[in-house]
Amino acid sequence: MKVALGVCGGIAAYKAAEIVRLLQDRGVRVQVVMTRAAQEFVRPLTFAALSGEKVITGLFGAGAEEPNIDSAVEHIAVAQSIDALLVAPATADTLAKFANGLADDFLSTLFLATTAPVVVAPAMNVNMWAHEATQANIAKLKQRGVRVVEPGAGYLACGMTGPGRLASNEAIVSAALEALGATQDLAGETVLITAGPTREFVDPVRYISNRSSGKMGYALAEGALRRGAQVILVTGPVALKAPGAAEVIQVETADQMRDAVMANLKRATIAIKTAAVADYKAKQVAGEKIKRAGPMTLALEATADILAEIASVRENQVLVGFAAETQDVLANARGKLERKQLDIIVANDVSKPAIGFDSDRNAVTILTRDGGAIEVPETTKWEVAHRVLDAVVALKQRKAATIRS
Ligand code: CTP
Repeated sequence: MKVALGVCGGIAAYKAAEIVRLLQDRGVRVQVVMTRAAQEFVRPLTFAALSGEKVITGLFGAGAEEPNIDSAVEHIAVAQSIDALLVAPATADTLAKFANGLADDFLSTLFLATTAPVVVAPAMNVNMWAHEATQANIAKLKQRGVRVVEPGAGYLACGMTGPGRLASNEAIVSAALEALGATQDLAGETVLITAGPTREFVDPVRYISNRSSGKMGYALAEGALRRGAQVILVTGPVALKAPGAAEVIQVETADQMRDAVMANLKRATIAIKTAAVADYKAKQVAGEKIKRAGPMTLALEATADILAEIASVRENQVLVGFAAETQDVLANARGKLERKQLDIIVANDVSKPAIGFDSDRNAVTILTRDGGAIEVPETTKWEVAHRVLDAVVALKQRKAATIRS
């Protein structure tokens, strides 16, 4: 998910830095676009460092003598790549441009060129906000579907008191998330997610592991956060950046993963186990590096089945497992669902090379204990994560309805 954050020139421009952080914490990528006036208040470097992306500062390349060919068409590329445009703070000037279709800088051009939902959070002097012209522009924008996060009343930097102060960052971020289509249907839930592979050490430098990238688990963590949940992410070693708002517990071995999961299970209302836990570990881990000396046999023993253990001690948590299979996918997965006493199992066929392990895409079937089967044809892991979370929410609603009746 990607948001373009338009920052206009006003005292409140510095608050946009915190908005970048809050959005990133929810797993949203942020592309900052600054108007010329905004750059008088905050340096683009601040936003570049925070967002980890190039900051767009002009239609024709910042300070370029000649129009920069790349950036001259960049507004179209950005317009097509974003899932929402958020403007905070939005000045009277930018709002007037938006309302009247002027396109003389990157931000106003982007506004015309994008079909993504638009959210504006105005901030200005009391009289400028109250002015008939501004109010007419706001009314026009609302009528065209632009969401307006109304400014709050209070003491303003200009010394006056009244409406015009930028709304709270939380209100702005939650409006942006709503525009992104993020419902808050997991608010109040704590989701414990395991992700990635485990490493089972043979000696101090060698281990047995698998191809899991952790992408599915991290997508679930991001998705759950976006839908309002608290997330505890127990992760094996992966090359991914965990979403900032998740509580992250790094582990390496299956035993460490088991301990981390069991220690945190009580706090969770939902447990989702995407981790590809090693099924076997070395019976004895050598204290020193094993020297090469002809053929060798490695004695292995089974690791603890974390999911089965959760199932045996869980209180009311919804329990979701993953089943990576290469044959008889659905039958094997349903068997695991019964055996491990799960509520939901997500079956994926890992024999298909383009999807599943280490890929950004996946195709799965979500099986529920009550016999349901939801097919999710090949799509992004992000989308799969949301379909899994949909199934969890639907199950919770069914459970609540049963308790009520
Ligand atoms: N799992 C677990 N602990 C293990 C092994 C697996 O919690 N020691 C979980 C995985 O996180 C996953 C589910 O169990 O959610 C299914 O994993 P999988 O390896 O497919 O299941 P196994 O029971 O190991 O079955 P198989 O015989 O197919 O390996």
